[in-house]
Amino acid sequence: MAEWIMKPIGFIKSSYTDPKQVPKGLGAKHTMEGVLEVLPELEPGLQDLEGFSHLIIVWVFDRSEGYDLVVKPPSDVHAHGIFATRAPRRPNPIGITVVELMRREGGKLWLRGIDMIDGTPVLDIKPLTSIIPMEQLRRGWLQEAEERA
Ligand SMILES: C[S@@+](CC[C@H](N)C(=O)[O-])C[C@H]1O[C@@H](n2cnc3c(N)ncnc32)[C@H](O)[C@@H]1O
Repeated sequence: MAEWIMKPIGFIKSSYTDPKQVPKGLGAKHTMEGVLEVLPELEPGLQDLEGFSHLIIVWVFDRSEGYDLVVKPPSDVHAHGIFATRAPRRPNPIGITVVELMRREGGKLWLRGIDMIDGTPVLDIKPLTSIIPMEQLRRGWLQEAEERA
């Protein structure tokens, strides 16, 4: 089977130093600010990024090991398949976080809404260009857990 070797395009500077410090569970709010430092040689790739209010950050759960196919997330008392959750221990340890871009200075991006710990490697950045209207969004077990809480 094919494999792809990826290298970080940059690293997160965060006040969280341990995964346990990041708010979890139902109602957890992600307002923490942090900086994404993009590698100097890739800085030209950031041209025109500041026109976008929100970015999709693709990153690596580099402080996780292994995976579970069925997990009990902190937001529910029931177990669910890993691909029906956003849990860190997954077959490909890739995280995706939508953040607000506050400002850019050269290769440094000031972000709001991070849930990554300090030093987290980032694989990619994409501008958020559309969102699905809430009335069209089905949120499965998470909605049921919220209704029970
Ligand atoms: C539930 S995951 C969701 C991550 C991302 N928003 C997503 O949906 O893919 C967020 C958790 O990952 C953990 N975490 C953050 N940075 C990490 C890292 N570098 N390695 C392993 N776990 C990390 C923290 O415990 C945090 O609460």
